[in-house]
Amino acid sequence: MNIYVTREIPKGGLEMLREKFGKFEMNTEDRMLTQNELLERVRGRDGVLCLLTDKIDAAVFDAAGPECKIFSNYAVGFNNIDVAEASRRGIMVTNTPGVLTEATADLAIALLFACARRIVEGDAFTRAGKFKGWGPLLMIGQDITGKTLGIVGAGRIGSNVALKMAKGFGMKILYADTFKNTELEKETGAEKVDLETLLRQSDFVSIHVNLTPETTHLISEKEFSIMKPSCVFINTARGPVVDEKALVKALQEKKIFAAGLDVFENEPALAPGLTELPNVVIPPHVASATFWTRTRMAEMAAKNLIDALEGRMPEFCVNKDQLKR
Ligand code: GLV
Ligand code: GLV
Repeated sequence: MNIYVTREIPKGGLEMLREKFGKFEMNTEDRMLTQNELLERVRGRDGVLCLLTDKIDAAVFDAAGPECKIFSNYAVGFNNIDVAEASRRGIMVTNTPGVLTEATADLAIALLFACARRIVEGDAFTRAGKFKGWGPLLMIGQDITGKTLGIVGAGRIGSNVALKMAKGFGMKILYADTFKNTELEKETGAEKVDLETLLRQSDFVSIHVNLTPETTHLISEKEFSIMKPSCVFINTARGPVVDEKALVKALQEKKIFAAGLDVFENEPALAPGLTELPNVVIPPHVASATFWTRTRMAEMAAKNLIDALEGRMPEFCVNKDQLKR
């Protein structure tokens, strides 16, 4: 079997591939491939293990050729892959759900705390030598315990954030989703509301939807304008769900209190003005970046690839029911 790995992933996954397929080719440079390199390197492969930073479209499928059976994405999100086109060609697309739920939820919560209590801003203040002693008005932030948390997209990750914040910090949970999450309601007393109600009533808004045409720019100028001026906004899902320019404007005009973002609209580029704002916390898309999680993701991505190439339906095939072949 002729496989390709578009960038080095944790060892556990690579060892599984080596054991099955012997020596295989991989991009060993510490950078993503350009689109041209990607087109060249997938040529004639039976399967490819790719990343969320790889744009996998019809041109890439053409380049890979008719023998290619699978693109195994090292991520839970798969908006980087044209799944409809893959399905038409009978190519399996797989992902790594579940193992990054806790880590991603934890990071969303870390951002929530960092923003509400101005941790990053305060840290920079102290390091800069500006701390001249305790002050009654110094670095005042927002309460968390007992406040209202609005979860946009109550899937695995959104529900996990809600559960932890309801149980740990007595937060009242609102959620907006197309599905009713009865289990979440039972466990946390969460209430399903429409997006507008959620935005108007929440002290914290956290985004957990998949990126689709329907969720692109789900949060834009109008949405920011109806949030509370004390609202903390968190996005650990996908950047394009949020109109980043509108977010910068909302922060500049103090329409909301702060934002914690792990993902960006045109990653790795940032909207003009974003980094000048003191009230944003912006880690570099690291929600799943814990040792345990990244290792499990590597093993799952490897297993998906191996299963597909040995003629089994991978457990985490996202287009199982759409495959033509
Ligand atoms: C990370 O963003 C993922 O989708 O796994
Ligand atoms: C992603 O895994 C989600 O369902 O939230």
